[in-house]
Amino acid sequence: MSTEEQGGQKTAPVSKVAPATGKLGVMVVGLGAVATTMIAGVEAVRRGLAKPIGSLTQMGHIRLGKRTENKSPMVKDFVPLAKLEDIVFTGWDIFEDNVYESAAHAKVLDEKTLEQLKPYLETIKPMPAVFDQYYVKRLHGTHVKTGKSKRDLANQVIADIQAFKKTVDRVVVIWCGSTEIFMHPAAVHESIEAFEKGLDDSDIGIAPSQIYAYAALSQGVPFANGAPNLTVDTKALIELSKRNAAPICGKDFKTGQTFMKTVLAPAFKARHLGVRGWFSTNILGNRDGEVLDDPESFKTKEESKLGSLDYIFQPELYPDLYKDLYHKIRINYYPPRGDDKEAWDNIDIFGWLGYPMQIKVNFLCRDSILAAPIALDLVLFLDLAKRAPGLRSIGIQEWLSFYLKAPQTAEGLYPEHDLFIQSMKLKNTLRHIMGEDLITHLGLEYYD
Ligand SMILES: NC(=O)c1ccc[n+]([C@@H]2O[C@H](COP(=O)([O-])OP(=O)(O)OC[C@H]3O[C@@H](n4cnc5c(N)ncnc54)[C@H](O)[C@@H]3O)[C@@H](O)[C@H]2O)c1
Repeated sequence: MSTEEQGGQKTAPVSKVAPATGKLGVMVVGLGAVATTMIAGVEAVRRGLAKPIGSLTQMGHIRLGKRTENKSPMVKDFVPLAKLEDIVFTGWDIFEDNVYESAAHAKVLDEKTLEQLKPYLETIKPMPAVFDQYYVKRLHGTHVKTGKSKRDLANQVIADIQAFKKTVDRVVVIWCGSTEIFMHPAAVHESIEAFEKGLDDSDIGIAPSQIYAYAALSQGVPFANGAPNLTVDTKALIELSKRNAAPICGKDFKTGQTFMKTVLAPAFKARHLGVRGWFSTNILGNRDGEVLDDPESFKTKEESKLGSLDYIFQPELYPDLYKDLYHKIRINYYPPRGDDKEAWDNIDIFGWLGYPMQIKVNFLCRDSILAAPIALDLVLFLDLAKRAPGLRSIGIQEWLSFYLKAPQTAEGLYPEHDLFIQSMKLKNTLRHIMGEDLITHLGLEYYD
């Protein structure tokens, strides 16, 4: 057993992760730009038309043992993940468009690619959604469920999940729906009982995303949230997740600007460079941009995006460097650009003796191209967590913070936003569940 670099931290005897046999059913809430780009992408990869770039589960390797051992299998060969060939997609949307029509509308993928995939994409038609315009002001849904109460709507989603479950071996639900208005947890979120009473009373504190999440967790089905709205980050749904061994993680895909932030900020911090100001602005012209143009949905996004810097910089420990940081974020709806988001960051830093410097970042990205592999990885890893005895009943899977702007943690813990710490945590979790030594990067053994 190695001692140093791996830290000798072989963790307690690990029970075996169950194999990924049979079909994995992926139920996507919201078949918009991100969802259709993920689904079309998975099919393109299955047919050998393209590579799954940006997906750690599909492209990543993981080092095992000492550096001298040269052992770095692919992640997908090391942990028992569902194969892309075994994924079956379905979903819900407030519009009737099938996945081909919705992808054509989103204009993320080119016509040639979509035409090749058309016969498959056309077969995926959304089920009617749970929707209420109170929670997403800019949308007018036409393909929606009706019910006497929120409980009734939850039961309809449960029926959808149960019916789909009969056709596959395992199920994961992921929210790729629009960003709902900003909400604080309320009394209705304090316990499962309070939440269920809230469903009966159609409590205003229960948004549609929470109804889907409740339905999934009540069936023991893992749930991921790609948007920043309040969904599984409440006491009630965390409790339900643990009770039914249905893993959950944080929220809001970490794709463009926040991804860059959680790479750059740890570098400044590591070098003890001060930061006085960080101004971030974006232009975005897709439907997501339109929804975020509404101040109430923007507020939800803003809160999620603002969090990272404070936690990374720890101004309470480093007041000379970060106490006066002014952090501002803008998102502007600008239709001509569609899904091709452009983000600008101006960062006012200071160095030795307080001398100021500036950094400008101009990221011309493609929102859904960045988000699709994250959605895929989250689905595959949540399905893995469900089959891992050490993970399935702990509720929050903090090791998936790597993918999310707003990581979720156990009560009382601050979230870890540094992308590199998140990446180490993720890989060590995989080593841990497979009974491998953890890697701490100490490395003194090479110098004995
Ligand atoms: N693309 C990125 O880089 C990125 C990053 C982080 C978060 N997100 C979030 O992911 C979500 C999806 O983004 P997108 O670009 O695909 O948006 P989109 O507007 O193209 O798709 C959202 C879809 O959800 C549907 N929808 C809304 N409410 C619904 C409900 N209650 N039930 C079922 N369907 C519903 C809409 O009709 C639409 O088809 C957004 O909330 C966005 O903020 C995206």
